[in-house]
Amino acid sequence: MASTELVLTDRILMGPGPCNPYPEAVQALGRPMLGHLDPEFIALLDETNERLRTVFGTSNALTFPVSGTGSAGMEAAIVNFVGPGDTVVVAVNGVFGGRMVDVVSRTGAEAIAVEHEWGQPVDIDRMVAAHPAPAMFAMVHAETSTGVESDVAAMGARKGDALLLADCVTSLGGVDLQVDGWGIDIAYSGTQKCLGVAPGLAPLTVSDRAIERIKPTPQSWYLDLNMIAAYVTGSGARAYHHTAPISMIMSLHAGLGAVLAEGLDAVRARHQAVGDAVKQGMVDLGFELFAAEGHRLAPLSSIVIPEGHLGSMTEAEVRSRLLGDYGIEIGGGLGPVAGKVWRIGSMGHTARQRNVTTLLGALADILG
Ligand SMILES: Cc1ncc(COP(=O)(O)O)c(C=O)c1O
Repeated sequence: MASTELVLTDRILMGPGPCNPYPEAVQALGRPMLGHLDPEFIALLDETNERLRTVFGTSNALTFPVSGTGSAGMEAAIVNFVGPGDTVVVAVNGVFGGRMVDVVSRTGAEAIAVEHEWGQPVDIDRMVAAHPAPAMFAMVHAETSTGVESDVAAMGARKGDALLLADCVTSLGGVDLQVDGWGIDIAYSGTQKCLGVAPGLAPLTVSDRAIERIKPTPQSWYLDLNMIAAYVTGSGARAYHHTAPISMIMSLHAGLGAVLAEGLDAVRARHQAVGDAVKQGMVDLGFELFAAEGHRLAPLSSIVIPEGHLGSMTEAEVRSRLLGDYGIEIGGGLGPVAGKVWRIGSMGHTARQRNVTTLLGALADILG
C-alpha cells in the first residue's frame, strides 16, 4: 500500500529564520493540552511573560506573546497607538521598515518614511529632523533584510513626547536590548529567530506611558490590546478574548527557560562569537560583507557574492545544492539586493560553531 506520509528531512536552518529550535522548545510542543483558562496554564503564561520581561530588559506589566508571527506583533504595535490625524516617522533601511510604513498608512495615519541606503544604519539626526512633533518614531533594531543593527538607544534619547516603537524581531535574545534603559515604549519580536522557538508568536512589550495612549477602539478587533490585556495580565480571573495558542506558549516558555538557564549574557556572547565566525569564514572563502562596518548584526550575516565568484553556477543553484546535498538552508537577498546578497542566520539553537564549520565545508566543496 502506498504511504500517504510525506518524508521530511532534518535541516540546518541558517537562513534569516526560522532557526533550529532548542530541543526543550520542540519537546514542549508535545505536552498534553490544557485549557486556556486552566489555572495551571495561566501560571505558565504568567511565568512566560516574566521570562519575556527579562529578555526584553523591562518591567512593563503589559508584556506577553501576541498570537501570530512577528508581523502580527508589528500590527499590534501600530494599530493600537496611531490612526487618522497622527504622524509617524518611520526609518526605512530595508524591507521591514518599508512594511511598517505600509501598516501605518493603512491605519489612516500619515507615515513619513525616512529612506536610507540599504546596508546603512538608521540616521537619528534625519529621523528627528523629519517632523517636529510626531505621535511615534518607528525603527527596526536589527534589519534582517540587510544584516544591519541600528542604535535604538540614541533614538530613545531624542524621542521627545513621541512614542518610540522598535522592531526587535531579529535582536531579542541574540543581541543587547534594554527596553526600559533605552526609552523604548513599544517593542515586538518573533519566536523563530534568536529565541530559538518555532514561528507562531510575537512577544510584545508596552510601557505604561504607551498604555495611556492606546486608542479606545483600535482598527483591529483581534489585536485590540484593551481587550487582550484583560486576559494576559492581572491577577485572579482572566477574561476570554480569543483562544490562546497553548502549545506554542508552552514551547516559548521552554525555549526561554533554555535561554535563561544558559544565561542571557552567555547566549548573546554565543550569538556574537558564531556570527563573527560566519563572517570571517565567508571572507576567507572570497566573499564580501554587505552591512556597513561597525553596524554588522551578529545573528544575521549579509554576504555579497562577487561577480564571477560562483563560476558557472547562479547563486540560487548554490543555495539549492546546499539544501539538497548538505541539508543546509541559507537565505537569498530581498528586494534590490535579490540575486546579489546571501543572508546567513546563526540564531537560537543554530548559533553553534559546529553549524558554521559544516556550512563553510559544504560551500568549499561546492565551489571546488
Ligand atoms: C525585522 C523583521 N521584522 C518583522 C518580520 C516579520 O515577521 P514574520 O515573518 O514572523 O511575520 C521579520 C521576519 O523575518 C523581520 O525579520
